[in-house]
Amino acid sequence: MSTNEEIESRINADFEYLHENPELSYQEKNTTLKIRSELSAAGIKILPLELETGAVAEIGHGDKAVAIRCDIDALPVQEETGLPYQSKVKGVMHACGHDFHTALILGAAMLLKERESELQGRVRCVFQPAEEAPGGARKIIDSGALEGVSAIFGVHTIPLYKPGTLGIREGATHAAVDRFKLVFTGKGTHAAHPNLGIDTLQVAAHYAVAAQSIVSRNSDPFATNLVSITRLEAGNTWNVIPETAILEGTVRTMTPDNREMVKRRLVELADGIAKSFGARADFTWVFGLPPMQNDKGLSDFASDLARSDGFKVERTPSSLGGEDFALYEEHIPGAFVQVGTGPSLPNHNPRFIADRKALFPAARFMAHLASEYLRRF
Ligand code: NI
Repeated sequence: MSTNEEIESRINADFEYLHENPELSYQEKNTTLKIRSELSAAGIKILPLELETGAVAEIGHGDKAVAIRCDIDALPVQEETGLPYQSKVKGVMHACGHDFHTALILGAAMLLKERESELQGRVRCVFQPAEEAPGGARKIIDSGALEGVSAIFGVHTIPLYKPGTLGIREGATHAAVDRFKLVFTGKGTHAAHPNLGIDTLQVAAHYAVAAQSIVSRNSDPFATNLVSITRLEAGNTWNVIPETAILEGTVRTMTPDNREMVKRRLVELADGIAKSFGARADFTWVFGLPPMQNDKGLSDFASDLARSDGFKVERTPSSLGGEDFALYEEHIPGAFVQVGTGPSLPNHNPRFIADRKALFPAARFMAHLASEYLRRF
């Protein structure tokens, strides 16, 4: 048996260790060993799934199952926090708080283990690799870890709020993250004889301007859609009109309908503008993460429980960033709990710090959320 104090000091040490030893997406070998050894030391069952990195643990008995999920990977960022437990790995840092999430879910697992006999079902603790890749969630889903699981709760740090505050929001909270690439092909020619060629630089410039009309003219003014062209490359010298121009960019949308509409308009504009100048357009669309849709009932349930546990609850602002937790919510209902660990510079900044005062209370809350879900639903 472990006391709360023992678990608290244990996960604080785990947090420091993980922060000092960050690993990039799909390379979380040592992190996985650490997670497995902590779970084993606490007598917690680890499911025999085929995962190269990451792990899924299970506590409790019975038919019903709920999952709580953290992510475990770090980012290619050189740390500049000056913390006593700063990253020991050059150019790699837990700049998004995934070390905090991992320690948090380890703590929740240990707390649940202490009360295993009282649980009215099973809790799966998901330690997901490669959230930043993104898409490590697919590995977990493909491993079968969600079979028999009726709901999932995710956690994430949020520097906007202080310890003691949790951010929870129903509905669309994170955007669909898609990317596109467009190649215009015209006809290269001498800069002094433009009439003998087809100037793709002109085509690309018109396209870059026209693409912004999708948000201003085709979108419902109350909808949130974003088109960012982030690369435009054409030509390599001063006296040649380039034969090709390349554009790349990203689209962020909050609903499947808007996602489809923006994509369709980008293609129509590419074909139409190319045609009007006599050029050709080759458009490639890469589907990324879907929009994240938090279940209203589960979000309300989590908010009410958080308040009764003494947390301040805020309705988290939506973000046009992506979160691969969205992939789980395509299969089962879920809610996302953002743990106030600020104030700090934003996630992914080299001076991002998660205040560990929030760690143990959040671990206790996630354990309570899982056990209470099994009792009530
Ligand atoms: Ni993150």
